[in-house]
Amino acid sequence: MPVKLRITLLFGSIVLLILLLVCGSVYYFSVTERRNEMEDRLMNRAITRARLMGQRNFDQSLLRTIDSATMMSLKDKTLQAYNYLGEKVYTYSDEPADTLTVDSQVLDDARVKGNIYFRIGKKEVVAYHHVDPNIRIVVVAGAYDEMGLMKLQQLRRILWVSFLSGSIIAFAAGYFFSGRLLRPIKKIADDINVISAQDLNRRIQAGEVHDEWQYLSETLNQLLNRLQESFDMQRRFIANASHELSTPLTSISSQLEVSLQKDREADKYRAVMQSVYQDVRHLGKLTQTLLEFAQASGNPGGLEIQPVRIDEVLMALPADVNKLNPDYVVALNFGNMPSEDHALIVFGNTELLFTAIRNIVVNACKYSDDHKAIVKLDIEAQQFIITIEDKGIGIPEHELKYIFQPFYRVNETDNADGFGLGLSLAHRIIKLHKGDIAVDSRPGEGTLFRIVLPTSKF
Ligand SMILES: Nc1ncnc2c1ncn2[C@@H]1O[C@H](COP(=O)(O)OP(=O)(O)OP(=O)(O)O)[C@@H](O)[C@H]1O
Ligand SMILES: [Mg+2]
Repeated sequence: MPVKLRITLLFGSIVLLILLLVCGSVYYFSVTERRNEMEDRLMNRAITRARLMGQRNFDQSLLRTIDSATMMSLKDKTLQAYNYLGEKVYTYSDEPADTLTVDSQVLDDARVKGNIYFRIGKKEVVAYHHVDPNIRIVVVAGAYDEMGLMKLQQLRRILWVSFLSGSIIAFAAGYFFSGRLLRPIKKIADDINVISAQDLNRRIQAGEVHDEWQYLSETLNQLLNRLQESFDMQRRFIANASHELSTPLTSISSQLEVSLQKDREADKYRAVMQSVYQDVRHLGKLTQTLLEFAQASGNPGGLEIQPVRIDEVLMALPADVNKLNPDYVVALNFGNMPSEDHALIVFGNTELLFTAIRNIVVNACKYSDDHKAIVKLDIEAQQFIITIEDKGIGIPEHELKYIFQPFYRVNETDNADGFGLGLSLAHRIIKLHKGDIAVDSRPGEGTLFRIVLPTSKF
């Protein structure tokens, strides 16, 4: 069922219920009020007549004259009095032949209870038991409250009309307001429909009023900003990667092309093959890094996670880095280490964590004259702090904010071999492990990378 219809029905039903409750209670209280008033009037009449009859020299004809002269808005009034033997001692009625047939049971009831109220046909009747030193009678007074009942009927008609028109207005208003309420949603959906991956620059027009719709529009716009940023990043990444891949390929194909143009000596071929081999190795390394990038770019759910001993990861570094270049030296320095093994565990992917730290260590060796990296491990407040320090060329301050971007290389280091992917890969891996990475560097003095990783609590 459409939301518009649902809101209309809900709003309409609530108003309908309230109207029903109000009209119902107005009618109920009017009915009770009229009945009580009628009973009071009949009682007053019965009491005054009984008192008059109690007078010592009571004159029936005088009483009848009074009765017939009494102007009351009641119709078909009758009044009958019975003595203690149940004999009728007085009777009066507006219409000559109109008498109430009252059985002895009613009289007995009245004697027991003092007074009773009941109905005979359309007439309402009270039977009142009067006792004084002169007389003991039951006066039965009845009448038809034509006026009162007519007023009630009128009230009923008014209430029905109000109820029906109120309900129609409530449903119409519900339909109108739900339409107005939901209009912004339709507008937001229309705005989103024209935004596509190719045209991510457009944004949703947030209204002027500070309301939930504006909040929704702003939230969606923020989401679009993030999406656009990530699309742009991906586009830049692909462009850079293609460029990096095509450079060695172009170099290979042009070298082969030139050497195939005519017959050459074996030395020349060897030299070309040597150069092609370098390019192919470069390509191989790049594809390997790109594969690691792809692995680290997913969500942590897709990773193989296991408990990793962080000290073991660090201890594998010196041999591995030394294999890459015999000049590279890694000095390990472990601070106050806990005695329990499990205090050194981090949950993560061993290969990726190793790649991340290795990239930073290789940088430290690569960009320093002594080719030395000092790696320290400390545990502070349930966190592993790994610092990698070198006394190398350092990074200029204005470059620091870019070094974690893919393919970014600082100008001064252009002659060193590299793609500019090492740090951004390390950054991604550390973020994937809910850790943090920061850098502090002074050109000419050295650089310090600080990695923070959460410990696993068993
Ligand atoms: N310890 C360091 N000392 C000085 N400069 C550094 C250091 N670490 C990184 N840099 C600078 O940051 C840039 C980015 O580093 P990153 O590791 O991402 O790329 P790279 O080392 O050039 O190539 P590779 O992809 O092979 O790692 C480097 O080119 C270098 O200019
Ligand atoms: Mg590097």
